[in-house]
Amino acid sequence: MPCPSGSDALVFFVNGRKVTERNADPEVTLLTFLRKNLGLTGTKYACGRGSCGACTVMVSKHDPVSKKIRHFSVTACLVPICSLYGAAVTTVEGIGSIKTRLHPVQERIAKSHGTQCGFCTPGMVMSMYALLRNHLHPSEKQLMEALRGNLCRCTGYRSILESGKTFCMMTDCHQKGTGKCCMDQRENHSSSLDRKSDICTELFAKEEFQPLDPTQELIFPPELLRMAENPEKGTLTFYGERVTWISPGTLQDLLELKAKHPEAPLVLGNTSLGPAMKSQGHFHPILLSPARISELSVVTKTSDGLTIGAACSLAQVKDILAESISELPEEKTQTYRALLKHLRTLAGQQIRNMASLGGHIISRHCYSDLNPILAVGNATLNLLSEEGTRQIPLNEHFLAGLASADLKPEEILESVYIPHSRKWEFVFAFRQAQCLQNALPDVNAGMRVLFKEGTDTIEDLSIAYGGVGTATVSAHKSCQQLLGRHWNELMLDEACRLVLDEVSLPGSAPGGKVEFKRTLVVSFLFKFYLKVLKELKTLVRQFSVPGSSRYPEISDGFLSALEDFPVTIPQGVQTYQKVDSHQPLRDPVGRPIMHLSGLKHATGEAIFCDDIPRVDKELFMALVTSTRAHAKIISIDFSEALELPEVVDVITAKDIPGTNGGEDDKLLAVDEVLCVGHVICAVVAETDIQAKQAIEKIKITYEDLEPVIFTIEDAIKHNSFLCPEKKLEQGNIKEAFEKVDQIVEEVHVGGQEHFYMETQRVLVIPKTEDKELDIYVSTQDPAHVQKTVSSTLNIPINRITCHVKRVGGGFGGKVGRPSVFGAIAAVGAVKTGHPIRLVLDREDDMLITGGRHPLFGKYKVGFMNNGRIKALDIECYINGGCTLDHSELVTEFLILKLENAYKIRNLRFRGRACMTNLPSNTAFRGFGFPQGTLVTESCITAVAAKCGLPPEKIREKNMYKTVDKTIYKQAFSPETLIRCWNECLERSSFHSRRMQVEEFNKKNYWKKKGIAIIPMKFSVGFAATSFHQAAALVHIYTDGSVLVTHGGNELGQGIHTKMLQVASRELKVPMSYLHICETSTATVPNTIATAASVGADVNGRAVQNACQILLKRLEPIIKKNPEGTWENWIEAAFEQRISLSATGYFRGYKAFMDWEKGEGDPFPYYVYGVACSEVEIDCLTGAHKKTRTDIVMDACCSLNPAIDIGQIEGAFIQGMGLYTTEELQYSPEGVLYSRSSDEYKIPTITDVPEEFNGLGESGMFLGSSVFFAIMDAVAAVRRERDAAEDFTVKSPATPEQVRMACADRFTEMIPRDDPKTFKPWSIPIA
Ligand SMILES: Cc1cc2nc3c(=O)[nH]c(=O)nc-3n(C[C@H](O)[C@H](O)[C@H](O)COP(=O)(O)OP(=O)(O)OC[C@H]3O[C@@H](n4cnc5c(N)ncnc54)[C@H](O)[C@@H]3O)c2cc1C
Ligand code: FES
Ligand code: FES
Repeated sequence: MPCPSGSDALVFFVNGRKVTERNADPEVTLLTFLRKNLGLTGTKYACGRGSCGACTVMVSKHDPVSKKIRHFSVTACLVPICSLYGAAVTTVEGIGSIKTRLHPVQERIAKSHGTQCGFCTPGMVMSMYALLRNHLHPSEKQLMEALRGNLCRCTGYRSILESGKTFCMMTDCHQKGTGKCCMDQRENHSSSLDRKSDICTELFAKEEFQPLDPTQELIFPPELLRMAENPEKGTLTFYGERVTWISPGTLQDLLELKAKHPEAPLVLGNTSLGPAMKSQGHFHPILLSPARISELSVVTKTSDGLTIGAACSLAQVKDILAESISELPEEKTQTYRALLKHLRTLAGQQIRNMASLGGHIISRHCYSDLNPILAVGNATLNLLSEEGTRQIPLNEHFLAGLASADLKPEEILESVYIPHSRKWEFVFAFRQAQCLQNALPDVNAGMRVLFKEGTDTIEDLSIAYGGVGTATVSAHKSCQQLLGRHWNELMLDEACRLVLDEVSLPGSAPGGKVEFKRTLVVSFLFKFYLKVLKELKTLVRQFSVPGSSRYPEISDGFLSALEDFPVTIPQGVQTYQKVDSHQPLRDPVGRPIMHLSGLKHATGEAIFCDDIPRVDKELFMALVTSTRAHAKIISIDFSEALELPEVVDVITAKDIPGTNGGEDDKLLAVDEVLCVGHVICAVVAETDIQAKQAIEKIKITYEDLEPVIFTIEDAIKHNSFLCPEKKLEQGNIKEAFEKVDQIVEEVHVGGQEHFYMETQRVLVIPKTEDKELDIYVSTQDPAHVQKTVSSTLNIPINRITCHVKRVGGGFGGKVGRPSVFGAIAAVGAVKTGHPIRLVLDREDDMLITGGRHPLFGKYKVGFMNNGRIKALDIECYINGGCTLDHSELVTEFLILKLENAYKIRNLRFRGRACMTNLPSNTAFRGFGFPQGTLVTESCITAVAAKCGLPPEKIREKNMYKTVDKTIYKQAFSPETLIRCWNECLERSSFHSRRMQVEEFNKKNYWKKKGIAIIPMKFSVGFAATSFHQAAALVHIYTDGSVLVTHGGNELGQGIHTKMLQVASRELKVPMSYLHICETSTATVPNTIATAASVGADVNGRAVQNACQILLKRLEPIIKKNPEGTWENWIEAAFEQRISLSATGYFRGYKAFMDWEKGEGDPFPYYVYGVACSEVEIDCLTGAHKKTRTDIVMDACCSLNPAIDIGQIEGAFIQGMGLYTTEELQYSPEGVLYSRSSDEYKIPTITDVPEEFNGLGESGMFLGSSVFFAIMDAVAAVRRERDAAEDFTVKSPATPEQVRMACADRFTEMIPRDDPKTFKPWSIPIA
């Protein structure tokens, strides 16, 4: 649209300061504006789609209807700046800072150890802050709700929640006095725990927290208040380069504009339009904003219903419904209750604050949680246009988008009328998603029935489903056929048959999970049947209806089908060993010291790679990736991209002066691409947006090549492997199998995305002299980046300095990959002579970087009927993707660790890494152990089922008991393992709870509980001595301050904090004298990746060594002046020309492995742990709830119990994600579908076990206790239903897996497709 008279000025406030933007671009989001224009980098980018909460800020607006100021959290990545006219924005920088005054939220999250990498922290802080602005003393429930939209990949949430709870009213714990209350447990634990006084449960001192003082908060700017009181009635227009934003001041103007631009969408929350524009390439040259039209926010209550303005946010709708429910008799509020139920689970608080009811309805997403209920509840849409008003029903025709039932292009939705329900009418809502909350539903439904008064005869029936088609689908015909029928089992059977026929889902339906969805369609119907029956029976009893005795009984066991799992507030106790009472107070080792960057994380002052301010002449790089899985590149045409004015260059393999990666692992593809996501070239442009737009203009032609392999099965068929087989053997497997019973089974373990909150990023700054480069990079291995850049540019390593200040989560994903991005960016920097910044979008990061290896395992186990395992033969295949990367090492570690905690005389372990046309999989926390050991533990569970014994008995029977040798003949003592096992059994009251679980299962048919206790013997370190070496450099300056540098990188695991604890102890100076600036290849060269759980150990020894050297040098001075201060001694040392700088070194633990002989001492030591988890599953939906987890880990002498407990919990929750919700989906063409936090579900705060007790340090694998507890529950179901107890184990145990394993009449009645007759939407790659 032409720009006739220039843009209007956009006026809003940020942190109390006025912003007047004269050229506001409608395409610019608040996140970009804050970070790039205002330099407020505390607000982070992590997903760009509103689904992670890292960019949470608070917006305050004057509400024209209530005339009050509304404070609400939003995700800045979805807020167009143009929508902020007249609003006040508060960011993490606006509420407090280290330099001025900390806000209590910031102080408490840091001091409660609620930050690790700190990348999610500003978002968490702002969600809590917005909550406290509305509720000074919130309930714990409100706290959970406020934090549900914020993801954290490090902490496991418990510590974050603890910090928030310090603001809450104490009334929430209804279990006080029952022994289940968190407070009671603390008391119980501290009194009985080991009856020792050296056990502690306090990780922070609450009493020291400053109080929350609401008078200190920023006020709503008076200028904005004046603007709101005398609103500008004229139309505001903001012209961007491509898009024009028009915000009329009156309803009449809006209708005129809509008539003039009928194709222009109305932007309300932008939560539907925004993601579609970002990810699906939707483009709208004109956007109409009705934000200033108060008529669209009006709520009217009449005697027969509620009319809610289309612009009301979903959060407001939630409040309006809750209010009506409290005011009206229950019979009138059936529809409102159903809507409220879904509003509680729909998205996070931020999205509900932004998204509008109108936007929700008009978007007509197939997964819409509200439309099915509104449709069955007979809602009406009130429409407006210049022509006048009109009503249309929100029915199946509207939802299907039929033109005759839809809005006309010039019409807008003014409001929605939702009638009250009537007596003898029941409305229920159902929903099943990958996890309980904050996940898009797989299937949802709204169901309503009206009975002839005083009878069970159906007078009216409506059923609508979401998730089973391209729009909400109505089962209208089925409902019609059921009119007049009685509410009984016969009707239910008929209803299931009819609905399955009407709501049919083809085998190839988008989204997959077809059989699961079909099952849910009827399972929901069954739940509806039971719920209504229960209500009906209450009603007839109330009205003494004659003949009501014929209504079918609901057996007690069936009542368990009725209730959904409630959201509970996690509670728990963390215990650790106190330091020796003789340890000097100034010695911080062993104390729960706060993370060094904790306060900086909480205030947004911690600088991550992309927070470094734009440097002079900086350019942005974006990567071009292959859309084919295996193809020859015929041509690359980037002429059109280069024609774009802001595009500076396109970097291809030809521009690489040195080596282009390895022979089989090129940095930039040359002639051939090996997977979708293979990097082909890179665009360099003035801004990130321009670089990304230019990518669209690059034309690449391909010629597909054969073979194309995605699955392990295909790789085996094609003999496609990345490296030779790895094998370990002991005893005589063949002979042993001849004498015992056997089971042969398969196990499939899916991969895992690292999902570090900070995506891969790098900033390369070329210097003017001697080809020097400074590289700021988010990596676990700066030396590797340095080396790769050196070989790529063909310049010596000494010209390249890599700096790592901190990393926003790594988990193995930033060991190898950052070197690729660093090298490509460096080529761009050298070619253009400009600094280059490369920040991967979440989608690209997930597409390109690979993750944990999916695994397919086959085992054959021979056992006696008392459960003693005599022989075990395991063969594992991992899906390595298209290049070797770390796959050989992962295979080796997998094989070395397969035996876990068990002594089995006759063993054979074999492993192979498959080469497939998928992005290369790489290092990931646990390095093969979490996948492989799941095979071993599944085998134990299968043996237990065959022997009719509980799995824990088989585990105990076969566990190492005395000093022994592993399969690779490394000696070790299992004493600690046994101690952990016994302690976990005792602390979790395992045996009594096992009985309670069985009791529960006997009484409940549709819900089952499961419990599992899993041991872990985890070897730490690399299988090579040279990989354990570490160095440190410690300088003492003349004022006595000390600068420590070491080879480890701060990934959130608190390594810098621990290193300063060590230095403080060794130098005998307080930690306040010590500082760590960054990890740099210029200060400590040739470092080893921070990985394999030994970072703090080996670097700690190097730091210790450096400090000891320095102290030795200072000894004569100290001896001479023992009463002197540290400063005196340092001054004297300087005068006496004693060097105050020392290098510390640790040569490494001896470790080796001889694969020829199958022998070695590959690991420096083992850590042991045991976890016990209990879950409850809903057999009808596959959902599960984690009731309780107890972890006992041996942390030896913890350097910092707060940090170690945080690591334990974080790893546990990450493991739980791996085994329960994190599911990667690939298309049959090898395209990763699950490329955002919408499609890939890492655990949220609501996934934390209801009771979470921890002791000591743990690994990912302990998360499998949840998996085996689920399996335990499933086994109980199958036993009860006489289904075979052994079934193919598949991880993750998603609701789909669980539901389909709980075979029943509903799984039996669904149609099954012949796999040969359709192309599935996704393929299993493990
Ligand atoms: C992270 C995330 C999680 C989510 N989770 C869920 C979930 O679990 N369940 C679920 O059901 N939904 C979920 N959603 C979807 C969400 O409910 C919708 O995106 C939202 O309700 C749309 O409202 P909006 O105001 O943002 O619409 P916008 O994006 O502003 O507009 C959407 C469309 O509605 C039209 N429109 C808006 N108002 C009017 C009007 N008054 N008259 C005519 N047309 C109008 C616009 O023209 C546009 O085409 C999620 C969204 C996100 C981003
Ligand atoms: S929600 Fe905005 S970056 Fe994730
Ligand atoms: S601390 Fe939450 S993502 Fe790292």
